[in-house]
Amino acid sequence: MTVKELQAKILELKKETNTAVLAHSYQSREIVEIADFTGDSYKLSVDAAKIPNENILFCGVHFMAETAKMLSPEKRVYLANKGAGCPMAEQMDRDMIAEIKAKEPDRTVVAYINTTASLKTVCDVCVTSSSALKIVKNIDSDKILFIPDCNLGGWVKSQLPEKDIMLLNGGCPAHSSITVEEVLAAKAEHPDALFLVHPECRPEVTALADYAGSTSGIMDFAMKSDAKEFIIGTETSIAEHLQYDCPEKKFYPLTKKLICTDMKLTTLPDVYRSLLAIAGKPEGEAFEILMDEEQISAARKCIDKMIELGG
Ligand code: 13P
Ligand code: SF4
Repeated sequence: MTVKELQAKILELKKETNTAVLAHSYQSREIVEIADFTGDSYKLSVDAAKIPNENILFCGVHFMAETAKMLSPEKRVYLANKGAGCPMAEQMDRDMIAEIKAKEPDRTVVAYINTTASLKTVCDVCVTSSSALKIVKNIDSDKILFIPDCNLGGWVKSQLPEKDIMLLNGGCPAHSSITVEEVLAAKAEHPDALFLVHPECRPEVTALADYAGSTSGIMDFAMKSDAKEFIIGTETSIAEHLQYDCPEKKFYPLTKKLICTDMKLTTLPDVYRSLLAIAGKPEGEAFEILMDEEQISAARKCIDKMIELGG
């Protein structure tokens, strides 16, 4: 079967099963093409809360599907590849944060959305990379504990010197592996290109950027800019999608090694198999996100707070 034939079968099954496919922008082109909603983590959480479909099939990583389930508990939510998790989401656990909270009770705990539902239960508000700055600024407290990403937290801290922001040692293994030397090499190779970067990169890398922002922020900046060439300092898919969307401009991935292996686990056949199972076909296989009401209400408060403060 060709990619186009498989995509056509997927489109039919989506309709037959009343399923909306949500795909993070780090997914491959062939998956983005069959998705109903694409974007960064913030946009997809807002979309998940609003869509009318009976089923949601998430192409991304586990915490994203879990967030969609919490925002739409009445829907059946599936993750297209059950092995796709975000390593950063597993770096800190509830007991560790509860212990710090006991010692520093006046700190508001701000959790990057890349955390497990269990950890979210001890946090006050979630943020995504596109909403972190605005939300931390809007929080009615100057004492913050920002978890788990010290690079994103450090980037927020550098712009809000009036706040006392405590950071812990977590981060994205893919983005934080980028070095200053790699940036300088890319800039030497493409001297006319603007350098756009995700704030999950280390501060010395972000400091070299012409623009730092979330996945959607980077894409919007590149699409609206008058510049013609860009070095893209985030997951390699973003340079690829931008190249399709703006063929008259040139996009260079900062380095081909900036790949989120978890995001790339999901394949088009995974989407097809999941939809076959949702349609009740025995040859299908789907991984459903199951959470009870108690788990949802304990973890959801900080996501609702994110939508309230970030909207
Ligand atoms: P955004 O989608 O918020 O830009 O975050 C990138 C990311 O690493 C997703 O896990
Ligand atoms: Fe997690 Fe980094 Fe992958 Fe995002 S890019 S899902 S933070 S490992």
